[in-house]
Amino acid sequence: MNQTLSSSRVLSGMRPTGRLHLGHYHGVLKNWVKLQHQHECFFFVADWHALTTHYDDPSIIPASIWDMVIDWLAAGVDSESATLFIQSLVPEHAELHLLLSMITPLGWLERVPSYKDQQENLKEKDLATYGFLGYPLLQSADILIYRASQVPVGEDQVAHVELTREVARRFNHLYGREPNFEEHAESARKKMGKKAVKQYSQLRRAYQEQGDLQALETGRGLLEAQQNISVEERERLLGYLEGSGRMILTEPQSLLTKASKMPGLDGQKMSKSYENTISLRDTPADVENRLKRMPTDTNRVRRTDPGDPEKCPVWQFHLVYSDEGTRAWVEEGCRTAGIGCLDCKAPVIESVLNELKPIQQRAAAFEAEPELVKRIMKEGSEKARAVALETMQEVRQVMSLKSLE
Ligand code: TRP
Ligand code: SF4
Repeated sequence: MNQTLSSSRVLSGMRPTGRLHLGHYHGVLKNWVKLQHQHECFFFVADWHALTTHYDDPSIIPASIWDMVIDWLAAGVDSESATLFIQSLVPEHAELHLLLSMITPLGWLERVPSYKDQQENLKEKDLATYGFLGYPLLQSADILIYRASQVPVGEDQVAHVELTREVARRFNHLYGREPNFEEHAESARKKMGKKAVKQYSQLRRAYQEQGDLQALETGRGLLEAQQNISVEERERLLGYLEGSGRMILTEPQSLLTKASKMPGLDGQKMSKSYENTISLRDTPADVENRLKRMPTDTNRVRRTDPGDPEKCPVWQFHLVYSDEGTRAWVEEGCRTAGIGCLDCKAPVIESVLNELKPIQQRAAAFEAEPELVKRIMKEGSEKARAVALETMQEVRQVMSLKSLE
C-alpha cells in the first residue's frame, strides 16, 4: 500500500449488471478512480447479491461479471491502485454472513426500506426468500470483513450501511471483551513511538477521567495517523481509548455519492430499464445516431419555432459537458430559433465521443485479453481473501469457534 494514502479503508461493490453506461461512469466509476489514489480501496463484484434476485436464471451472471469488470478497467479503475475482486471467490463473506445472522434480530432486516420496496417493484419475482431478506446483512459482512471505514454508495444504500453500523456495534458489545485485552493493547501501544504513546496516554486519561470529548477526538486522530500499527492494533487501541473493550469490527460511514447529473436520452435518470442509455462500449456511429435522434423541447416542432432549454433533455447534456460559452450559445440560439437542434447537439456529440474514445480503446485492449482480466480478478480476490481471513480468525476466536486448536 502506498504510504501517502490515508489509513481509512474504502470498500464498495456493484452487482454484476453487464455492460455499464455513462450514468455509471459519471455517478460511480469516476469517483472510484479518484478514491483509489487517496485511500486503500477494495472494489468488488457482488455476484452473490445478484443471486438474491436472479436465482431463477443464474446462467447470465458470469458474462455480466466480465462485461462489467472490463468496463471498470476501461474507465480507469486500476488493479495496481485498488484491490479488485469477486465476492464468491472470498467465501469468508458467507461465513461472516452466517455468524452475523446469529446476532441480528429479524426486525432489523424487516424494517430496511429496500426490503418491502423491492418486493413491490419486482412483483413478477418471488422475493419472499430467506436470501433476499438477508441481502443487507450479506452486505454488512462484505463491509465488516475488511474493516472498511468508508463505503461510497448512492442514497438507496445508506440504510444498508446504517444496519452495518448497528450490527458491528452489537457484535463488539457481545464479543469485544477479551480477558487479556489490556495486555494486548499495551503491546500495540509500544509500537507507536515514545512521543505518540505519551500523548495517547494523556488523552486517554483526559477522556476517561474527565470525560473530555475533545481529547477523545484528538486521540482518535492520533491513532488514525499511526503508520506502524496494524488495523487490528488500531482497533484495539481505539477500544482502549474509549474504555469500551476491543472493537473487533469497525463501524463504517457511508460516503454518499452525489446523484449523477447524467440524464438519459429521454431526460429521465439514465437506466437500462428505461432503455435510454449510452453504453461505454456503444460504437461512435451508434452514439452519434442515438444522440441525433434524442427528443428535444416538444414545443419546438419546426426549425423556426423558438425553444426552451429548460424543457429539453439535450440541455441536461450541455450541463454535464459544455463550458459557459457553449451554454450561452445554446440559450440564445434556442430561445431565438437562431440554431437548429442538430446544431445544438453537435458539441454534445463531440464531447461524448471524446470522453468515450480512451475508454473504448482500453476496453478493446482488455477484451482482446480475457486471460489478463481473469488473472487480475483472481489475484485481487486472493489479496482480498488474505485480509478477510485476518478478520475471520479473530471473529472465530471471539465466538469460541477455535476449540480444535
Ligand atoms: N447492494 C449494493 C448495490 O446494489 C451492492 C453491494 C453489495 C455493496 N455489497 C456491498 C455496496 C458492500 C457497498 C458495500 O448497489
Ligand atoms: Fe434542445 Fe438545443 Fe433544440 Fe433548444 S436548440 S430544443 S436546447 S436541442
